[in-house]
Amino acid sequence: MFAAKIRNIEGYPMLNVCFNFAKLAIFALLIKSNMPKKWFHNWFNSPYYHILYQQRNDAEAEFFIDNLCAYLKPKANSRLLDIACGRGRHAIYLNKNGYDITGIDLSIASIKYAKEFENNRLHFYVHDMRYLFYINYFDIAFNLFTSFGYFETDYDHVKSLRTFQKALKPDGLLVLDYFNSHKIITNLTAQEVKTVDGIDFHINKIVEKNKIIKTIEFVHKHKAFAFKEQVKAYRFNDFKLFFEQSELEIVHCFGSYNLEEFDIDNSDRLIFICKKAHA
Ligand SMILES: C[S@@+](CC[C@H](N)C(=O)[O-])C[C@H]1O[C@@H](n2cnc3c(N)ncnc32)[C@H](O)[C@@H]1O
Repeated sequence: MFAAKIRNIEGYPMLNVCFNFAKLAIFALLIKSNMPKKWFHNWFNSPYYHILYQQRNDAEAEFFIDNLCAYLKPKANSRLLDIACGRGRHAIYLNKNGYDITGIDLSIASIKYAKEFENNRLHFYVHDMRYLFYINYFDIAFNLFTSFGYFETDYDHVKSLRTFQKALKPDGLLVLDYFNSHKIITNLTAQEVKTVDGIDFHINKIVEKNKIIKTIEFVHKHKAFAFKEQVKAYRFNDFKLFFEQSELEIVHCFGSYNLEEFDIDNSDRLIFICKKAHA
């Protein structure tokens, strides 16, 4: 019966092409669904990420946003984008200050949490930053608290920056907040134990192939867990090149949430303010 149907399809070349396309698409989907998830899918989607990093809280986000707004002076009708917004600590505060803001993140759990706060000027979506979102729409795009540097290739990082660039209006600005990898590597604590909410997180850090690799192991409710963070040790000049390849131009570079000037030896953060090139 099936063979007869196939023979029928073979009588119609276009149908045959469509049939082969459908087979390929199903095959690709099957392969993708069986592929192991990357570390950034698992770790950021886990409740333990939020426990370990609970000192990265609303107060820190609000302090940084207040300083950024004093510097950027967004107009009241500005449309803002928070790329890799997590549970939305920056976006929710910007919205409380009257701005229209959209947050996107890969983590289903974080977006589910953030959606509880939605209103007609605050929206959250699950979305992978490497793929195009809105075009020519936002006045300011934020990518905050090292929400970059997770991918295997420089190509994927440039691809992400291009989508950020495309999301902006011609006179739009990008704020990208990364760590100062020079300072982190110089002062690397190879091993430590952090106890948070009664959980002993055993943390090991190494630098390998220009990545800072953090292994996080712990036992909770008699179950052993192991997660990894692998973030590229990008420096100022790497970003400068990536921005050029993404048609972005550095306007300013800060080194802290207080917006002090960037200093390679002493700054904790590497915070870029960029505009669209050729705007
Ligand atoms: C270090 S957290 C920072 C979250 C948030 N910006 C904050 O400050 O609370 C990094 C975030 O990047 C998100 N992320 C990782 N890969 C992503 C991707 N490809 N597209 C969108 N978001 C991604 C994670 O789910 C996580 O919420």
